[in-house]
Amino acid sequence: PVMEKINTNIVTLTRFLTEEQIKHKEATGDFTLLCHALQFSFKSIAYYIRRATLVNLTGLAGSSNTTGDDQKKLDVISNDLFIEAMRSSGKVALLVSEEEENVIYFKDAKNARYAVACDPIDGSSNLDAGVSVGTIFAVHKLADDSTGAHGDILKPGTELVAAGFTMYGASAQLVITMKGGTVNGFTLDNGLGEFILTHPDMRIPKKRAIYSVNEGNSLFWEDNVKNYFESLKQAPEGGKPYSARYIGSMVADAYRTLLYGGIFAYPADKKSPKGKLRILYECAPMAMVFENAGGQAVDSNMNRMLEVVPEHIHDKAGIFMGSYDEVEKVKAFHKK
Ligand code: AHG
Ligand code: MN
Ligand code: MN
Ligand code: MN
Repeated sequence: PVMEKINTNIVTLTRFLTEEQIKHKEATGDFTLLCHALQFSFKSIAYYIRRATLVNLTGLAGSSNTTGDDQKKLDVISNDLFIEAMRSSGKVALLVSEEEENVIYFKDAKNARYAVACDPIDGSSNLDAGVSVGTIFAVHKLADDSTGAHGDILKPGTELVAAGFTMYGASAQLVITMKGGTVNGFTLDNGLGEFILTHPDMRIPKKRAIYSVNEGNSLFWEDNVKNYFESLKQAPEGGKPYSARYIGSMVADAYRTLLYGGIFAYPADKKSPKGKLRILYECAPMAMVFENAGGQAVDSNMNRMLEVVPEHIHDKAGIFMGSYDEVEKVKAFHKK
């Protein structure tokens, strides 16, 4: 029998982070330790999602969060797993989570220099059907003179030091990007218990005829938005109209868009004038990933998503993100 060629030179997330740290001479190793804690939270959340149906973790928790969503049992458990991972890293001074009304301050983390925002489970309405969901994270550095305050997290995405997400799909896919850097994708090898670099330097295709939006809201859309999506369904001379793909988990819709190209949108509308998706832990981290992969992300006013500064931690925005050319098209329709 022919022996399978085994790759013995594997780049794990741990190795990747160590190599990044060596490249940055000024690095203290704190950020690397924070990432180790992030990676553990992704592994444990993935583990409980996979076992949910077997151990009675499906369904509602019986509570709701600040933005009005009914919490699923897994929203609550994943939130707790994430919080404990961040607390125990000792590197996080404060944390904002979709599932927590207020900022959490880790007073015991004396020398912590980071502020983190997270969506523990994105797409939780899809959980019980076994459809892909994810975790989104965004990392800010504290101001030099700060020991951790509101202002360290109420910052525009342009100041993020790192952001990304993990999608729990057929496999767990972790996508991470750092300030001014490339976007790198890792796949969790369940046997090894390690995230392996499988998608180095991800670049979003410049254009692609796929749109991803909850069209059930079209009744409430502004005319610019209506006209834009309508135009995608008109086949140009000899061409084909766009395909529609909407999972209803932003992480999964975004991951597909990153790989295949196209546009993902959750516009502000007459029913939700401020949009649905939340700036700190949904819009900004995704915008950073898309920009660093060569795409674009704008809000419903066609302002660069990364420059939007939230006033409150759970503030929302409309969002359009995806391939460079597809977002250009959206902008053109809003100038009309
Ligand atoms: P979450 O599950 O974290 O509350 O986020 C839900 C979000 C996002 O995942 C998705 O893009 C969107 O809500 C789906 O909303 P609709 O059901 O209104 O389409
Ligand atoms: Mn929710
Ligand atoms: Mn979400
Ligand atoms: Mn969520």
